[in-house]
Amino acid sequence: LATETEHDVVVIGAGPGGYVAAIKAAQLGLKTACIDKRGPPGGTCLNVGCIPSKSLLNNSHLYHQILHDTKKRGIEVADVKLNIEQFLKAKDDAVSSLTRGVEILFKQNKVDYFKGAGKILGPNEIEVKGNPGEPDALLKAKNIIIATGSEATPFPGLTIDEKKIVTSTGAIALEKVPKKMVVIGGGIIGLELGSVWSRLGAEVTVVEFQNAIGAGMDAEISKLTQRSLAKQGLKFKLSTKVLGAEVEGETVKVTVDAAKGGKEETLDADVVLVAIGRRPYTEDLGLDNIDLDVDERGRLVIDQEYRTKYPHIRVIGDVTFGAMLAHKAEEEGIAAVEYIKNGHGHVNYGVIPSVMYTFPEVAWVGMTEEQVKATGKPYNVGKFPFAANSRAKTNLDTEGWVKFIADKETDRILGIHILGPNAGEMIAEGALAIEYGASSEDIARTCHAHPTLAEAFKEAAMATYSKAIHF
Ligand code: FAD
Ligand code: NAI
Repeated sequence: LATETEHDVVVIGAGPGGYVAAIKAAQLGLKTACIDKRGPPGGTCLNVGCIPSKSLLNNSHLYHQILHDTKKRGIEVADVKLNIEQFLKAKDDAVSSLTRGVEILFKQNKVDYFKGAGKILGPNEIEVKGNPGEPDALLKAKNIIIATGSEATPFPGLTIDEKKIVTSTGAIALEKVPKKMVVIGGGIIGLELGSVWSRLGAEVTVVEFQNAIGAGMDAEISKLTQRSLAKQGLKFKLSTKVLGAEVEGETVKVTVDAAKGGKEETLDADVVLVAIGRRPYTEDLGLDNIDLDVDERGRLVIDQEYRTKYPHIRVIGDVTFGAMLAHKAEEEGIAAVEYIKNGHGHVNYGVIPSVMYTFPEVAWVGMTEEQVKATGKPYNVGKFPFAANSRAKTNLDTEGWVKFIADKETDRILGIHILGPNAGEMIAEGALAIEYGASSEDIARTCHAHPTLAEAFKEAAMATYSKAIHF
């Protein structure tokens, strides 16, 4: 092993948490290395998560719209065909150009990037086992940032082959459209990837253990979302437990039981997608060598400044506490490095937006109505439908609502929930407003351009402390 010179910071994992931390550290003048065994940087998000799934969502939506939603717009199309090879290639091209971009950023910022598996040997020592063709190395580090991410939670008794019984990784690479797909888990992955294959023609059934979809989204929005997805053809079995699945020839037989003592039933599928959550990933990281603490869910235990029991070893992203989201990991990457360099950093965990990129999109920030109710504090709700928004009307995309929740006494915004076209872009304004401690009146008195979808946002704010104009 060639021993490299000592680095100020060694980051293990080049996902959105790790690569952003590495770039920031280098920008702040710290000698920085980053290690990832996947090879191309970008982690789960760029390689098999956020980015490929959004490519498939965008293009499957276009295809679905061309097939089903052009006549009323005065556009006659004929002979519409899906070229699945090109459909998958468009996704792969987006991924590879973005991962290449991160490698270029590493070079520009002078981050030493090691393609190989990192193993912590001691509190300041990391071994890199290089990928084929890549060198091994032994790195000395003044600071270590662990950003090793997460992996799909397996379903007990189901063997993932990534062809017939798949995680999201298999589900973004299916070479043909399944006739029937069963999705276990009505969370974000299940609904996004279920939507993709449903739009391309699969008959998709989502089996969800809870009595609502969307893994914790505002209950009212969750119901509206379910209704919307059901109209598009997705089938839902809520409060239903999957008991097991067997591959029989080309078919997977999925046995389900109604959670409240209902009847057992077998669902046939060509492909079963297991999407019941993700769990922290620390395999072969060498945690035993330094005896780091993990909690009952396998998450590395840290304090407010991302420190483990070794103050110079910090942890960020999916492998520790909090929402498993790319932008959350990125924020933590920057904050952790700022703690190292300056002794202070900042992430506001109350203002991390969530977006589900279905059609319409669902986006939210702050508290759900259920969470606000549980605080016992009085609150106001203001809502505005896209059906009453002029731009949504011209676009013929009028499904959905904007919903505000604000403190009744102070009018301070507590939560914003949107089901509707462009919700994912619109929620940025909501995040900014909550971050700045805005009232609903602050938003309603801010001039929004006409005709824009954002006027629905403004009018929902207006409806919170007063009355909307157009509804
Ligand atoms: P990861 O991105 O998981 O990166 C960790 C990296 O560490 C991996 O590349 C891994 O190879 C590497 N690694 C692990 N152990 C070692 C080791 N010992 N040595 C070297 N390298 C190692 N989030 C969003 O915000 N928006 C979305 O739209 C979105 N869509 C998603 C869609 C799907 C299908 C999935 C699965 C996830 C999605 N997510 C989305 C979640 C998002 O991908 C994660 O929250 C994010 O990637 C977490 O970043 P991270 O840096 O903590 O870890
Ligand atoms: P999730 O936590 O969003 O949803 C999992 C769902 O599976 C829950 O509704 C849960 O009740 C259900 N479930 C659990 N066990 C079950 C069982 N045995 N039978 C039936 N249902 C069961 O997890 P998901 O969808 O796997 O996503 C993992 C992570 O990836 C999430 O934390 C999410 O934030 C992130 N992600 C984010 C995206 C985005 O921001 N757009 C897109 C995709 C993933």
